[in-house]
Amino acid sequence: MDRIKITGGRPLEGIIPISGAKNAALPLMIASILTRETLTLHNVPRLSDVRLLMRILGNHGVDAAISGKRLGQSEESGETITLSARDIVDTTAPYELVSRMRASFWVIAPMLARMGEARVSLPGGCAIGTRPVDLLLMALEKLGSEIEIDSGYVIAKAPKGLKGGMIDFPKVTVGGTHVALMAASLADGTTIINNAAREPEITDLAECLIKMGAKIEGAGTSQIVIEGVARLDGAHHAVLPDRIETGTYAIAVAMTGGNVLLEGARADLLQNALDHLEKAGATISVEPTGLRVSRAPGLLAPVDITTEPFPGFPTDLQAQFMALMTRASGPSRIHETIFENRFMHVQELARLGAQIKLEGDVAIVKGQSRLKGAPVMATDLRASVSLIVAALVAEGTTTVNRVYHLDRGFEALEKKLGRCGADIERISGEG
Ligand code: UD1
Repeated sequence: MDRIKITGGRPLEGIIPISGAKNAALPLMIASILTRETLTLHNVPRLSDVRLLMRILGNHGVDAAISGKRLGQSEESGETITLSARDIVDTTAPYELVSRMRASFWVIAPMLARMGEARVSLPGGCAIGTRPVDLLLMALEKLGSEIEIDSGYVIAKAPKGLKGGMIDFPKVTVGGTHVALMAASLADGTTIINNAAREPEITDLAECLIKMGAKIEGAGTSQIVIEGVARLDGAHHAVLPDRIETGTYAIAVAMTGGNVLLEGARADLLQNALDHLEKAGATISVEPTGLRVSRAPGLLAPVDITTEPFPGFPTDLQAQFMALMTRASGPSRIHETIFENRFMHVQELARLGAQIKLEGDVAIVKGQSRLKGAPVMATDLRASVSLIVAALVAEGTTTVNRVYHLDRGFEALEKKLGRCGADIERISGEG
């Protein structure tokens, strides 16, 4: 198992290219099941989750290939992946694969819509709370599917095809909205999704589905209307930039000081987080090629945050912002409203010297902590990167173990930070 070793204390200066968004690439790849034609995705990030999903899709009969490098293409530009689901040969997604990546559960929707049946393992336990799939199944039932749960598998059937329907989500769910969009695109008649997630990755999926021939209106708002079509075609689509990667590096610069251009980043994808960062003491400006982040002189100000569905403060940046607040000049409150138990990083940050008190779904960060390097353990994707953010300013050396969590969601993290002056290295082998 690889580890990452960081010696803190260096400001970040330079350019960090922002990769395509993992959380858009995954549903876009899954959408390839909806058509017999080829879906070509550009700007796909090089991540282990993408590789794993290629394997999972291959198991269903999808031919997935990564195109070779093109002349003049830089090392950082994302990959192009072609996906052809001419024949679906297997409608079962087994536990061994689904349990390794929750989002792969979403294959249930296109498989059901195209083949009239799907048998998908329940995703099982997860480091950040129970994360059920009841709302995803509710959406499929509203579109006329019969759902049965047997021996840990969800068996969804719609022998006569799906029918358009009214889906009212009692709570905003990104996965539920992705599933509803994909299923409704091939359903017979009109579907209305109320209280839909408004995340940019939803809009990205909808835009790709529209290129494939789907009739979708309202993506990006809380009501989406889909007029089902009989078949979808192939398309070319470029994955939008990763707003969580953008926010993470912006927080890292606010933490270390310095001046970095986040190349390819788009402010509109994370305005709320940027506003909070500016309140804390970062200076952010929009440039033609991306976002420039620097840290104004002086102390970091304490800023309270509450995680919310888009366009609110993203839960996927909560851990990183908490790391930043350990260095603020006073106490701050971090309120997590999306996931229960998403404070696994607190005890690891404490190993570095952070003083954080938990009161239910609120963390109170004391601020002014003197951070000192220590061995720490990555517990999930976003938690692990918060440890990197803290380690960048900790005195001495921090070793982050179990970095496979990081490799799921951050492309070439040590290279991107290393090129901007961070003292960071990956140590391969047992950890
Ligand atoms: C997606 C993102 C994840 C992000 C999250 C919230 C991907 C691959 N993952 O996860 O990075 O943190 O959105 O922005 O895009 N819920 C139910 N029943 C359900 C489904 C969800 O109760 O059937 C609850 C969840 O437990 C959670 C809330 O709804 O409390 C939001 O979850 P959801 O938006 O569905 O998250 P994911 O799509 O799993």
